[in-house]
This record gives sequence, C-alpha cells and structure tokens, in this order.
Amino acid sequence: MFARRVMVVGTGYVGLTTGACLASLGHEVVCADIDEAKVERLRRGVVDIVEPGLAELVAEQTSAGRLSFVVGAGAALDGFEDGRRAEVLFLCVPTPMGAGGVADLRAVESVIEEVGAALAPGTVVVNKSTVPVGTAARTAELLERTDVAVVSNPEFLREGSAVKDFLGPDRIVVGSDNQDAAERVAALYARLGAPTVLTDAASAELMKYAANCFLAMKLSYVNAMAELCERVGADIGDVTEGIGYDRRIGQAFLSPGPGWGGSCLPKDTHALLQVADSADFEFRLLRATIDTNTRQRQRIVDKVRLAVTGKRTGSLSRVRLALLGLTFKAGTDDLRDSPALAIAALLRQAGAELVGFDPAFVEGKDGASAPTEIDGVPLAGDAVSAAQGAEAVLVLTEWPMFRTLDWAQIAAAVKRPIVVDTRNIVDPATLRRAGLTAVGLGRRGQG
Ligand code: UGA
Repeated sequence: MFARRVMVVGTGYVGLTTGACLASLGHEVVCADIDEAKVERLRRGVVDIVEPGLAELVAEQTSAGRLSFVVGAGAALDGFEDGRRAEVLFLCVPTPMGAGGVADLRAVESVIEEVGAALAPGTVVVNKSTVPVGTAARTAELLERTDVAVVSNPEFLREGSAVKDFLGPDRIVVGSDNQDAAERVAALYARLGAPTVLTDAASAELMKYAANCFLAMKLSYVNAMAELCERVGADIGDVTEGIGYDRRIGQAFLSPGPGWGGSCLPKDTHALLQVADSADFEFRLLRATIDTNTRQRQRIVDKVRLAVTGKRTGSLSRVRLALLGLTFKAGTDDLRDSPALAIAALLRQAGAELVGFDPAFVEGKDGASAPTEIDGVPLAGDAVSAAQGAEAVLVLTEWPMFRTLDWAQIAAAVKRPIVVDTRNIVDPATLRRAGLTAVGLGRRGQG
C-alpha cells in the first residue's frame, strides 16, 4: 500500500472521521482546526461528537503516530515528519446554508487564502464537504495555481454510523478535470475495495445532492403513502415491506416518521432547489418533496389534537404532553433541524405544555451537568417522569429503548392513556396490554 501525507482542515464530524479513518488505512494524517480548545481536547483523546467507534479510532491512530492535531491550517503544512509537506489537502470545513439557500463558502475560501500559496507543487486539494456545483472550479480559481489540482470527493456518511460507513462505503466518488489527481485520491481508498466512480468535478458535486434529495424524496413518498393508508384502511408497514422486496426499491429508508431532518437532508434539498432555480429549471418534484415534509410536522400536531380532544379543531391549550425523543434521529445527540423540535414549537404555539425526555441528554458532557431544557422544552430524567400527568405521550425519535420502556408504569403515570407513536416503533399490542391507546402513522386500525 502506498501511504500518503494527508492534511485535513476542519475536525467536525466529517473531518475527524475522515482523518481518523484515513490514518487507519495507513496514511500519515495531520488534522487542523481553528478551535484551540478543541484541538487540545483531541490531543488528549477527548472526542466531542457522539459517534460509535470514533473516539477509540482517534486514540488508536494517535498513539500509532499516524494521526496528529494542530491549530490552524498553516500549522498543518509543517506538521509532517521530516518537514515534508502534505500531498493531499482535504477541505472539511462547514458549508452552512446562507441567504437564499445558497451554501456559504467563506470557510473554504479562508483556508485557501491561508495555505493555498504555500502548498507544495503537485498537491491535490480535495473538497469533502457538501458544496454547490461549481465549487471545485471556484476553488481552483481562488488557488490561482496550475500545479495544484482540485478534486471533489463527496462523503456519504450517516451520523451514528460514520466510521462504519467510511470504512465500508457503498461507493467512492472522485470528480476532477484532472484525471491523474482524481486517480491519486481514489488510490487513498484502494484498500476498501469499494466501487469507484471517477467523473468530472461538477458530476461529483451534483451526485451528493442527488443522493440526499433522492433519499428525502423516498421518505416524503413513504410519509404521504402512510397518510393514504389511513384513508383507505391499508397498513404502511405491510405496504413498505411488500414494495421493499423489489430490489429496484429496496427495504432501506422506508420507515414513516415525523418528517426527515438533521443537518444534511433539509440543507441539501434547499440547496439543490437553488441550483435548479439558478439553472432556470423548475424542479417540481423536489419542491413537493420539501413541502410534503413541512406538512408532515403539522400532520403530527393534527393527529395529537384529534387524539386528545376528539375533534380536528379541538384546543390544545394547557394540555400537558410528554415528548419522547428530541434528536433528529436515534443514536445521536444532534438536534439540528430536528422534526421533534419543530413539532414541539408547533405544539407550544397551540398552547400545549410540554415535558421532554431524550436518552442523549440524561448525562452532561465534559463534566457539566445534564441540560434541564432543550429549545424551551423542560427535560425529565426518564420517560416515566416525563409522562407524569400527560394527556398524551408522543414518541418522536426511534430510540430502541422506547420499545422496551415499562409502558405499564407509564400508563399509571399519565392522565390520559394516549400514545402517539410517530415512528411506529412500539408494539401496539404491548401498549394495549398496558391499557394504552396507540396512535401510529398509517397503521391498520390506528387512525
Ligand atoms: C444523511 C444521508 O443518509 C447520508 O448518506 C449523508 O452522507 C448525510 O446525510 C450527509 O449528507 O452528510 P444523516 O443526516 O446522518 O445522513 O441522517 P439519515 O440517517 O439519512 O436520516 C435523515 C432523516 O430521515 C432523519 O430525520 C431520520 O429520522 C429520517 N428517516 C430516515 C426516516 O424518517 N425514516 C427512515 O426510514 C430513515
């Protein structure tokens, strides 16, 4: 195997996973971040991100001498043994959604400004962050160097399984107008034996949006189908199982829910819509995907209203509700664009009194005490306490522990025995046995 000297700028979720995993493939990796305190913690092996296996991998690769951390991109240039410079520079800095749904590229620009001129001839600059089509070309322009190539190498990691996804990818995508540079980047991953798509930069950049928007569309479709199931008396679990056996559709990503969220799908759907708008293309399917998702949150509120008041227009004023799960999905402590929080805001607007419980926030981080509220939702230390006096219990995140809660104890704590399970994860028979009425999404006989 050919080990390379790799510099990774940005030690967020993508950068840290990339750095640690590339080191585990045998490369010499120096990771840079502008946050001094964070670098200091990483040097001590403290990883702030909740990601299975990541802290262990960071510790293992650091002590093996293949992974190190420095403050600032400039320092990373000189961070390699024997004073040699990086052969590959991975840009893993944030590209948040700016005004009008356009990704904000200031962080990419500032790294180029800082180290662009000092890169060794022949270095390959790799864009790993999700970026608008044309960013590789823009990066090359900013670099103003003909001896440094720019490559787009989007990541397809899921939060909660990032290390596993990195080391066992469905595919590697490398796009560049410089074939030799693209092949050098692809070679970094050779040991993984994954299918590799070598393409031009614009196609690689678009591919990331295309994948996330397709996934979002799949989910909006399932959520709409669940609503239709309710209206015609069908069952969404059976329908998705049946269609999922068709290999062209697949079983994955077919669970209905309170709407898709997180830091990626919402950002990327809006960004692709923006790309389409600028290209004078009316992407109606994508707009409908987003609208269906926005509507899904209101649909959950309507369901709660009907379940609690018996009327579509009933009042939720001063109605106490327990919210189980606040993160955007299970296995993470990430609250960004969480459907649970969007639903909480709508419920609060409707006058409801909320108490939340989420297993990700039972303990505080870094020696601090556990939070007492999130986004204005007061937190209880366990599900039973959250359910105390509630007129309905809402399951909003698919944490596996919710399946096996002591539902009889919850039934004894609530004021009214209603469970609105927006993830369809709790066995309705278990709820019934505990004396609770289950309301799911598109489930037979559960309106
Ligand atoms: C997503 C993509 O799945 C990754 O491939 C991609 O690399 C990543 O974005 C990114 O762009 O960085 P992630 O945001 O971690 O990953 O979350 P997902 O697991 O995709 O879930 C997204 C949302 O869909 C969550 O709110 C989740 O609860 C929801 N979901 C997912 C469902 O409602 N039903 C499902 O069957 C699956």
